Amino acid sequence: MTETTRHTLRFAACLLLSVAGYAASGAARGEALQVLHWWKSASERKAVDLIAARLASEADIGWRDSMVPSGSGAGAGIVLRSRMLAKDAPEVAQVNGIVIRDWARLDLLLDLDAVAAAGKWDKQLLPTVAEAIKSDGHVYAAPVGIHRMNTLFYNRKLLARLNLAVPDNWTQFEQAAVKLHQAGIVPLAQSSEPWQVTTLFEALVLSEGAEFHRELFQRRHAAAYTDPRLASALQRLRSLKKWMGSPIAERSWDEGVRELAEGRAAFMVMGDWAKGELVSRGLTVEEGFGCAAVPGTANYHLYNIDTMGMLATRESHRPAQEKLAALIMSPALQNDYNQIKGSIPVLRNPVLAKMDVCARASWKLFTSGPEALVPSLVHRMATEEIVRDAIVAEVHRYFLDDNVSVADTQRRLGTIARTFTKTR
Ligand code: BGC
Repeated sequence: MTETTRHTLRFAACLLLSVAGYAASGAARGEALQVLHWWKSASERKAVDLIAARLASEADIGWRDSMVPSGSGAGAGIVLRSRMLAKDAPEVAQVNGIVIRDWARLDLLLDLDAVAAAGKWDKQLLPTVAEAIKSDGHVYAAPVGIHRMNTLFYNRKLLARLNLAVPDNWTQFEQAAVKLHQAGIVPLAQSSEPWQVTTLFEALVLSEGAEFHRELFQRRHAAAYTDPRLASALQRLRSLKKWMGSPIAERSWDEGVRELAEGRAAFMVMGDWAKGELVSRGLTVEEGFGCAAVPGTANYHLYNIDTMGMLATRESHRPAQEKLAALIMSPALQNDYNQIKGSIPVLRNPVLAKMDVCARASWKLFTSGPEALVPSLVHRMATEEIVRDAIVAEVHRYFLDDNVSVADTQRRLGTIARTFTKTR
């Protein structure tokens, strides 16, 4: 089957599932909003259900679920764009990152200035979040939570059994991996899905330096693409393959989490939604699993902000859309939702008592100052979608095929950076 056929089939499957999800959960109340998102795993579902339940109980508005299963949202984006072209847009959609600005400029999103003013969002929100939801001075999305991408999860029991310490650097990681491998345990749970490969890759770039990550993905400076640090991140990506089990299956991220939870794998590099999933599988951060920074990235927060955009469909939907936006930003929802989801609230004053050690570490770093903050490439915070997609495809190709050289990949990535003009 060719790559194109696979993509077409996946796209068709996404559409079917999206429609099925929509049909299955239509609410019985008078007013309802259709919400397109990509939260599918058990913990993601639980978090979504919480918002839907509060929307019903607090505002008497129904939630018509339109879930498009696609970790990191690639499929959801395709379905959303096709539905918009077909003039069949849902009222609400998960729209993360720079796309907010692009769509706002095309008048596809409602401005939420009135809700934001009434709720004093500017005072309540962390500055980076306040910035991320604005375009040309207006607010266009309701922020839900902040994820940290450069998280190294580990299975505590496995590490204790083999007397292994949590690695601070890559040399220590290699030493632990050798022992795990000898004991018949997969050192690193990893999928070959393009976005998951690139999630690991951008964490490896980050371990070469935060400023280097920004140069490469946010500013896209030509010199960064010929820099030996890019070669080093690519080489590390390839050399980590031997620790990933064989074959490296193309599976959803929650299957990797399951491998770790069941003690078949020891480590996993993933955004902290994986924590939500580990907890929903009955593990606790005290006993079952632990979270640390990816080696070499302890001082940085590679972030991803989940946001909901209200699509400019019919004006009659506006009041309900505004109520949902206000609910999402309410402190009670923020604290409860993010506890389930694995993320941290977007507010300046969240309830710290509701945060576990991983969330507190994420919180501390996110609020420590701009030097720590690095916008994620894969999760659309650093670049336009088209550039992100091209880079993900190139890194994926390099990862799958050992005959593709580091130098060629650097050259191709450099070409991508030069080809697309920056618009921000
Ligand atoms: C989203 C998370 C989600 C993850 C996996 C990310 O892009 O920001 O909320 O849990 O994808 O689906």
